[in-house]
Amino acid sequence: MLTPKSRKLNYSDVTPRRLYLGRRNFLLGLFAATASAGCGGKSQDLPSEPGGSPVASKLSGVIKGPYGTSEAQTPYNYVTHYNNFYEFGTDKSDPANSAKNFVTSPWSVSVEGEVKNPRKFTMDEILMLAPLEERIYRHRCVEAWSIVVPWIGYSFSVLAKLVEPTSNARYVAFQSYYDLKQMPEGPSAGIELPYVEGLRIDEAMHPLTLLTVGMYGDTLPNQDGAPVRMVVPWKYGFKSIKSLVKIRFVQEQPPTTWNLANASEYGFYSNVNPSVDHPRWSQATERRLGELHRKPTLAFNGYADQVASLYTGMDLRKYY
Ligand code: MTE
Repeated sequence: MLTPKSRKLNYSDVTPRRLYLGRRNFLLGLFAATASAGCGGKSQDLPSEPGGSPVASKLSGVIKGPYGTSEAQTPYNYVTHYNNFYEFGTDKSDPANSAKNFVTSPWSVSVEGEVKNPRKFTMDEILMLAPLEERIYRHRCVEAWSIVVPWIGYSFSVLAKLVEPTSNARYVAFQSYYDLKQMPEGPSAGIELPYVEGLRIDEAMHPLTLLTVGMYGDTLPNQDGAPVRMVVPWKYGFKSIKSLVKIRFVQEQPPTTWNLANASEYGFYSNVNPSVDHPRWSQATERRLGELHRKPTLAFNGYADQVASLYTGMDLRKYY
């Protein structure tokens, strides 16, 4: 069932058809559950799941952050049971089950490269660096579904400024945790692991770029990237790397996982752009999990006022 290494990959290719159909039925089930639940509260929206609730604990002292959307938040259970986290399986429902016992403590993130003060941050330090803000962001997957999530964290620039990037730092490279013992499904994922991502330095330092430690008032559940991940809300979801262990400030544009897997379909920039279709499907509209009707996709995922100026003069068809 594995996709040969030489072939160009995409998300659905690396998902066996049986699982893909299972995922479709699961999603349809989610839609049906919501429809029949009407305007009911969170608990009515929850489809019954074998694994029960994800393990997460309350985060205290969270303040309201800037930039939040006032759109309805996606119910918690969609955000925790419809995930992409290939280290824990390629089906959307896999991470909720396979990541249940993922050990995320102790944890540290090493920050290195073109910086004056390279250092390792423990998770406790990361939690204490700045006041934790709740930011309700739209999160748009390249597969044309989306969610609205009250993430918790603070601007990545807070951490970056502490290590003092040098003038050679033009990009930031991010790396996820990878351990075969804890992630035995990794080798069948069809992508190179550890998962890696990257941003240009001005994108990384933009205040919207969130170093994320929680959601919905709690710490991150394992399947959503515990204990710390990035969220870059104007880009397709695959830029938002999970379970971060290494951050490297670098001079050259770093390799990124989906671009390595299939460069013609997944670019380095990957800004949400309704007028540039994915080679095999339209990006003009999206389906918000839990809602029945598609809605138009917004340029830069609705954050154009804040970020469009980062790309002045760039041909966004070429730099997709
Ligand atoms: N990070 C790691 N380490 N591994 C992954 O497979 N998938 C990416 C991104 N970050 C991924 C990852 C993709 S394709 C998407 S769409 C988002 O995580 C999904 O985030 P979510 O499951 O919290 O919605």
